[in-house]
Amino acid sequence: KRPAGAPDKALARKVTKVGVIGAGLMARQFALLFVRRLQVPVVITDLDQGATDAGVAAIHKEIHDLLEKGRISPDESNRLTALVTGTTNKADFADCDWVIEAIYEELEAKQNVFAEVEKFISPEAVLATNTSSLSVEQIGAKLEHPERVVGFHFFNPVAVMPLIEVVKTPHTNDETLSTAMVTAASLRKNAVITKDTPGFVVNRILAKVLGEAMHAVDTGTPFEVVEESTRPFGLPMTPFELLELVGLKVGAHVLDTHHKAFPDRFFESTNLHRLAELGHIFERDSKGKAKGIDK
Ligand code: CAA
Repeated sequence: KRPAGAPDKALARKVTKVGVIGAGLMARQFALLFVRRLQVPVVITDLDQGATDAGVAAIHKEIHDLLEKGRISPDESNRLTALVTGTTNKADFADCDWVIEAIYEELEAKQNVFAEVEKFISPEAVLATNTSSLSVEQIGAKLEHPERVVGFHFFNPVAVMPLIEVVKTPHTNDETLSTAMVTAASLRKNAVITKDTPGFVVNRILAKVLGEAMHAVDTGTPFEVVEESTRPFGLPMTPFELLELVGLKVGAHVLDTHHKAFPDRFFESTNLHRLAELGHIFERDSKGKAKGIDK
């Protein structure tokens, strides 16, 4: 069945090489998914050689772990490892037909990195962004071909979360949108097409839950009480566990963006900004198991 709003599959362009900009937490996870599911070269870049090498090494390790767990054969492990490479030269993106960015959530940085890559790639190549709350239209605003820009929003942990939000801007053309939908299906994810509004759909709802949990703390309810109260919800994680999973800086950014867009409906949280600087909410043992809220 064709997903709501999806153009004809026949318009999709073939993806034969993937470029990944940013080698952080999300980029590493989806770079691995691209190489596993599409079996095409994936070239990854970050601000400098050290960050790029660290990203590539982490993906190679994940491939090795899949081999150890018996999920892939030694042949496949070798093939996938060889397909994932790093570069600090955007000219190496020239033959990519799909480039996706997951750098830090700053509009100008994203606009600039797309404008830089556009100089090298073909006019048909797709530029996708994994932004969680910036305007996808604005990210593409400095491009010669904004019709190639689409949001492609993964959820953490990428390997297990079944959804991708495909964000259509007023300029995204049918070829780009169709390529995004077919690519999501090749990655074995469900894709929904969402409007280019703050938080799209999922983060709009999550920001409510996470924001209310933080607001309870900000207004005097102890962390432990909020944590304990949210356990029986039937959600797989408490709001604080989820905030640690997505990253406290990302979480704080998501809340700020929603507060800015809808000040009467969303809170920004001073405690979350403090914790983002600290880097964690829970105290953990040497194996990383949470021992309780860090006081
Ligand atoms: N990375 C990769 N794989 C992971 C993982 C991780 N961090 N955590 C768990 N998994 C895998 C496990 O390997 C396991 O896979 P197999 O079945 O193939 O072995 C599977 O997930 C289930 O793991 P567990 O049984 O250990 O754990 P669980 O049943 O407690 O589930 C969970 C773990 C999937 C993370 C679950 O707690 C969950 O769904 N949490 C909510 C996650 C969520 O809501 N994510 C969205 C965040 S919002 C976001 O990302 C967007 C944004 O813009 C901020």
